[in-house]
Amino acid sequence: MTTVDLPLLPLGRGVDLNSERGVECPGDLPPASDPDLVARATAAKAALGDKVFILGHHYQRDEVIQFADVTGDSFKLARDAAARPDAEYIVFCGVHFMAESADILTTDDQAVVLPDLAAGCSMADMAVLGQVEAAWKALEDAGVADQVVPVTYMNSSADIKAFCGRHGGVVCTSSNAQTVMEWAFERGSKVLFLPDQHLGRNTAVLKLGIPLDKNVVWNPRKPNGGLTAEEIQDATVILWQGHCSVHGRFSPDTVDALRAEIPGINILVHPECQHEVVLKADLVGSTEFIIQTIEAAPAGSAWAIGTELNLVKRLAAAHPDKRVMFLDKTVCYCSTMNRIDLPHLVWTLESLAAGHLVNQITVDAQTAADAQTALQRMLDLPGKTERD
Ligand code: 13P
Ligand code: SF4
Repeated sequence: MTTVDLPLLPLGRGVDLNSERGVECPGDLPPASDPDLVARATAAKAALGDKVFILGHHYQRDEVIQFADVTGDSFKLARDAAARPDAEYIVFCGVHFMAESADILTTDDQAVVLPDLAAGCSMADMAVLGQVEAAWKALEDAGVADQVVPVTYMNSSADIKAFCGRHGGVVCTSSNAQTVMEWAFERGSKVLFLPDQHLGRNTAVLKLGIPLDKNVVWNPRKPNGGLTAEEIQDATVILWQGHCSVHGRFSPDTVDALRAEIPGINILVHPECQHEVVLKADLVGSTEFIIQTIEAAPAGSAWAIGTELNLVKRLAAAHPDKRVMFLDKTVCYCSTMNRIDLPHLVWTLESLAAGHLVNQITVDAQTAADAQTALQRMLDLPGKTERD
């Protein structure tokens, strides 16, 4: 299987021809068919000059990435934004939780802008503050809350990061989850891992050697998370029942089929993939790790990658001397990442250039302070990541 030029997901197309346009775009959103979109984005960006800094997550479309001043994963982009205090506008081509993190880490004089407010993250939405507070109450009732350190993945709302900040917890990314979990176990005998059960399980079992049966799953839709007090007391890791709708799709069967079809193929997956997939993979790591691994791979090597399709296609195009393919038979874009398209970027840049601040993402001061506490605990850790 080689990567082919697959069509984009037909987001919102059908009966409502305007629905793919997202929400709240006052003024004119240019049509995707406008032949001048590239020229318009170029002109608006030039007019804004140093006032604007455009961040592009690795899963963004090529048409958007071409205008990014810097590309990266969510954590790197938040740090890059913080390193540009002179830029009045940070245009975040990514999803909502990333723009929130950028707002927390940038100065009050900077505005973080998300070109389409419909660019959320289904995983982040799976952990809502009220649900997490109810879970914490259940941990208190089971008599274990004082032993539990909450750890939240970067891919969570500012509310959840703030909850962790208030409860002695911390944020992690896909590249430092092991270091962060070790930090947590120096402070408590149990971890509540939010919101991605797969990253939590893969890290606990494969990196820290915690037995699989010491990981239990908290289902926020069931009374007491679907667990008895004894199960909670016996668990070492309480995994929130959340997942990434993109990475959760890869299956162990596809790994087997590809290995049978292409002897010697390397399977490289993101830790948001299911545990059964990660167990069968040759390498597992964050988006940045995946990029670095393909860059360092020898010519002629074959790779099937389990991560978002925009990135896999870009890696295949950038490395024609290597056989780079997608670890799934079907199209697997992140539909919310794909909400940010060139028309929305043009609309955003032209609005800013005309003096209209649009789609600003703000986190209230108390939430930002508490979330910053959890982020800072991560930033203060020695810089050990999967790549060290
Ligand atoms: P990273 O960018 O941290 O690898 O996370 C992957 C992802 O799913 C981003 O939404
Ligand atoms: Fe969320 Fe997954 Fe999309 Fe990342 S790839 S934004 S975790 S749904």
